[in-house]
Amino acid sequence: MSEFDFASLHARWSFPTQVWFGAWRLSDLPVGLEEIGAKAPLLITDRGLATSSIATQALEIVKAAGMEPGFFHDVQPNPTVENVMAGREILRKGGHDCVIALGGGSAMDAAKAVAMMAGQSRPLMDFEDVGDNFRRVQTEGMVPVIAIPTTAGTGSEFGRSSVITDTQTHRKVIIFHPEMLPELVILDPELTVGLPPTLTAATGMDALSHALEALCAPGWHPMADGLALTALKMIDGALATAYWEPENLEARSNMIVASAMACTALQKGLGAVHALAHPLGARYDAHHGMLNAVLMPHVLRFNLPAVREQMATLAHELRLEGDDPGVAVLGWLEALQARIDMPSTLSEMGVEVNDSDIPALIADALRDPCAGGNPIRLDAEGVEQILRAAR
Ligand SMILES: [Fe+2]
Repeated sequence: MSEFDFASLHARWSFPTQVWFGAWRLSDLPVGLEEIGAKAPLLITDRGLATSSIATQALEIVKAAGMEPGFFHDVQPNPTVENVMAGREILRKGGHDCVIALGGGSAMDAAKAVAMMAGQSRPLMDFEDVGDNFRRVQTEGMVPVIAIPTTAGTGSEFGRSSVITDTQTHRKVIIFHPEMLPELVILDPELTVGLPPTLTAATGMDALSHALEALCAPGWHPMADGLALTALKMIDGALATAYWEPENLEARSNMIVASAMACTALQKGLGAVHALAHPLGARYDAHHGMLNAVLMPHVLRFNLPAVREQMATLAHELRLEGDDPGVAVLGWLEALQARIDMPSTLSEMGVEVNDSDIPALIADALRDPCAGGNPIRLDAEGVEQILRAAR
């Protein structure tokens, strides 16, 4: 018997948007702009990609189609409120009618927030994903987004939210509105071929953490579970290859699609990995995917008593051996992380958590919207246990 009452079970599910997959699909960008009726796009990327051949190519492809794109690239690795407001200024001044979000999670999160803020008069933080705040959004002024990821992990291209750092409070804040979902996503695995191995590994771990946390999140969402399980199998087969053979297009294709699937699955919920990675990332400006990699085994160990069924399914799918599926999955996770040279502690990745920082980190983790999706109810003691184990 199921724990759910099917006579009263109601659910609201969103599945993503239009996706164009394929090597060199970047060249179809003008077709995408035409389909969404945009004539004056603003390309948004991060500082790291600003002078890259990918950004140059994207701009040239749009120019060759007779358009004059705007270009905004002042986006930090953990994008800030200031970054978003500067982007909106450029969008309004240039009269842009669409945003092309090109890059990893930071560029995409900033770009989606700029597109949303195009039509708002309230401050950005008024749209934090708490309660019904998203109803404050005036949708008429929002502009559509075409998302083109250059990493395979964040899945921000399929998300209806952005994570933005409030530099005043050192908090990473989730900004949410259903219409922040990009209108078109171009998944071009060629764009990830040049991604350095460490970033391939860290962003791949972000994808893995989305799938694993979604699978473990409580609630009845078989569509999300199916996506999460398939994504985990694809990552198992492709991540180490993408790390060791950067030009392997099959592995890159599998990773970019697995990342998309994992991100779609995460609407079921995330958990303690993300609830802790957000405050740690905001405080120490550390890479989100790498933080997830370090936190994941500790969180899984903490959650094991509540996720026996999910671990049995996952161990079966991954063809893991051993009497205890939870232990087998933990062993698989740690072995995969070792194959791609991920650190196993926060201090190994350069994040030194002082005792005096711990109370604030615990408070921020507990108020993070992801905390509610953890299979074991989080309290201060539990968060501290995970944090100290990961230190
Ligand atoms: Fe994430």
